[in-house]
Amino acid sequence: MAFFMAFSPPAPHFSRMEHVALHKSPGDVPPLMAMRRAGPDDADRIYEHLLRLSVEDRSLRFCGAVREPTLRRQAENVAAGYPAGLIACSPEPGEPVRGMIEAARIGQWAEVALSVEPAWRGAGLAPKMMLAAARWARLRGIHVLEALTLPENGAMRGLGRKLGARSRMDDGMIRQKFDVDTLLRDEPAAPALEAGVPPVGPVAHLASVTNHRPADLRRAAA
Ligand SMILES: CC(C)(COP(=O)(O)OP(=O)(O)OC[C@H]1O[C@@H](n2cnc3c(N)ncnc32)[C@H](O)[C@@H]1OP(=O)(O)O)[C@@H](O)C(=O)NCCC(=O)NCCS
Repeated sequence: MAFFMAFSPPAPHFSRMEHVALHKSPGDVPPLMAMRRAGPDDADRIYEHLLRLSVEDRSLRFCGAVREPTLRRQAENVAAGYPAGLIACSPEPGEPVRGMIEAARIGQWAEVALSVEPAWRGAGLAPKMMLAAARWARLRGIHVLEALTLPENGAMRGLGRKLGARSRMDDGMIRQKFDVDTLLRDEPAAPALEAGVPPVGPVAHLASVTNHRPADLRRAAA
């Protein structure tokens, strides 16, 4: 499945300095397979995806420097199902992961974090992954997805504006809230699948592997 974005002029609220996303044409972006839920066999390919991100991209993804053992642990946790991972693989030997969105349920909302390898950027994969995460959330009765973003992350800020996220500064970070029902407004509602899932995963796991800080854990416990 090839992704493409037709060229369109920048929206008026983008400054020229900030919006540097390249709009690619069909054929500019290597093909991807349909997105799917990550499973136990995906730990290595998720780890390799995270390793292929540059140091700067890893820092943007994890809101700070991360070492390889942390990436390994993150990959194993996603493969084990918490946080949930939705992955887009390229149809090459070994089906490497090229894009991933993770979602961690925290009570009535879920934190999301995403990554796309450079050759697959600028083609609209990130909004597709947000919609996939929104479907995951809606099936679980979750109505808000939240991304914790560094202020210098122009791509995430642009994505938030494009998808109508509400953003606010919080202790030097930007919290972007994406409304699930708004993201899925064109899709018929589906009944929730897992009304009884426990709201919070292992606490140490949340604090170290997703971007949560103690304040989030207190909110989740409330
Ligand atoms: C953020 C990231 C996932 C975006 O992936 P992507 O597939 O290239 O994004 P898309 O091409 O789908 O762009 C979607 C929208 O995001 C915004 N955007 C993407 N890249 C942008 C950039 N460099 N500058 C400003 N806005 C940008 C635009 O609004 C774009 O829509 P448009 O093309 O219609 O203008 C990717 O850049 C990435 O992996 N970055 C490193 C890790 C990271 O920052 N993760 C987020 C932490 S939560």
